[in-house]
Amino acid sequence: MDMWREADAGRVQFRTMKLEDIPDIMVIEHESFTLPWSEEAFRNELTLNHFARYMILDVDGQPVGYAGMWTIVDEAHITNIAVRTAYRGRHLGELLLRRIMEWAMELGMERMTLEVRATNRVAQSLYAKLGFVPAGVRKGYYSDNNEDAIIMWCELPELENGSGEEEGSEQNC
Ligand SMILES: CC(C)(COP(=O)(O)OP(=O)(O)OC[C@H]1O[C@@H](n2cnc3c(N)ncnc32)[C@H](O)[C@@H]1OP(=O)(O)O)[C@@H](O)C(=O)NCCC(=O)NCCS
Repeated sequence: MDMWREADAGRVQFRTMKLEDIPDIMVIEHESFTLPWSEEAFRNELTLNHFARYMILDVDGQPVGYAGMWTIVDEAHITNIAVRTAYRGRHLGELLLRRIMEWAMELGMERMTLEVRATNRVAQSLYAKLGFVPAGVRKGYYSDNNEDAIIMWCELPELENGSGEEEGSEQNC
């Protein structure tokens, strides 16, 4: 049973990331990535980068996942998405990706892109499930092991009542 879509759905909440969340984010970041972003990188994203948008997924009020994107003209670029190890495989990553895609649509974005490690089959499968298709390769993109990145794109449907608000590196996703 998918508990997060049914009985316990009320335990899950989404909200915008704040500076006070950074210590919790660092825990998830270090669990999730071999090239984790620094606290300073997140601080800069939240305070200096006007294109950056970050959201937190809370379970029972505790940060369990997060996702970020840069919104530039009509394209959203996912910078990172991660779920705490103990909470994976329960469709929380999927909920997070669906929510950030909705946010992009609310902001008037028409398409979404990301890079994913060639060996990261779990994330590729998640992206494919939500409509992302591979569109190219960045050779040796990841500096820790020279691994290639697969570039994926997704065309976002137009929101019927969307506001149409328009707005707007590190390696991670
Ligand atoms: C990628 C990540 C966010 C997925 O989150 P999750 O909550 O574990 O995934 P979900 O339970 O929502 O699964 C959604 C889909 O992802 C894929 N998936 C999830 N776990 C999988 C696994 N162990 N094997 C293969 N596919 C898997 C499936 O397509 C799944 O859909 P399905 O259950 O209908 O088959 C999570 O694994 C994570 O944080 N990984 C480390 C960070 C990372 O790699 N981020 C992406 C960088 S580009």
